Amino acid sequence: MTRRKLLIGNWKMFKTATEARAFAAGLNTESGAKQAAASVDLAVCPPFTAISALADALPEYVKVGAQNVYFEEQGAFTGEISAAMLADNGVTFAIVGHSERRTLFGETDEAVGKKAVVAVKHGLTPVICVGENLAERDANQTAEVVARQTRAAIAGLSSEQVAASVVAYEPVWAIGSGRTPEPEDAEAVIDGIRKVISEEKGSAAAKSVRILYGGSVKPENIAAFGAQPNIDGALVGGASLEASSFARMATALSGGN
Ligand code: PGA
Repeated sequence: MTRRKLLIGNWKMFKTATEARAFAAGLNTESGAKQAAASVDLAVCPPFTAISALADALPEYVKVGAQNVYFEEQGAFTGEISAAMLADNGVTFAIVGHSERRTLFGETDEAVGKKAVVAVKHGLTPVICVGENLAERDANQTAEVVARQTRAAIAGLSSEQVAASVVAYEPVWAIGSGRTPEPEDAEAVIDGIRKVISEEKGSAAAKSVRILYGGSVKPENIAAFGAQPNIDGALVGGASLEASSFARMATALSGGN
């Protein structure tokens, strides 16, 4: 089973629609990104307000994702955005359960599972984020925490739906900190996530699901993570904001320099 590598940028609360268009224009001049796209899937997740502009302006080999999605179909949920609304705006991926959503906005394991279900229902690929915080890591609870988060996130999905989904292992202490685990340590955790998925949904799903590493990934370190057998790419925050940096990461993940 060969899994295509995947690079996803998570812009968090950065960039207006105008700034997003400038990123797209910059990426169009980066020949490396286009070459890398022959072997690596590429996507950018801007704020909701820049989705439409980015979907129009990005080269066709870069997909657009959302950073969040609400689990209800429609209704009196002020401030929320549904999966159907995202799909209608050209969105392909939806990040669910990012640690900033979990810690700052009270997103529970149960809500993450419901979000994954509604995303799939509307043809979006969920990017399910899991990861331990520093206290959990220090208490040797990493495997247990990511197993619990993974089980809850995939509970409502069929084996086939899990096979087509994406999981991102993002240790909370590595996000935005400049610190990363050793690639071998991330590999061990991700191997554990695949085992949990195999137990819950069968070995075919575990072999097909793409699992990314995230947390302080940059052009200089992405290849080392991507070289691990169970790591299928990266979810990148800060280093995805500049077109040149995004293109360099795409190239490095594709095996070039
Ligand atoms: P970072 O963020 O690359 O800036 O550490 C990663 C993420 O939060 O997805």
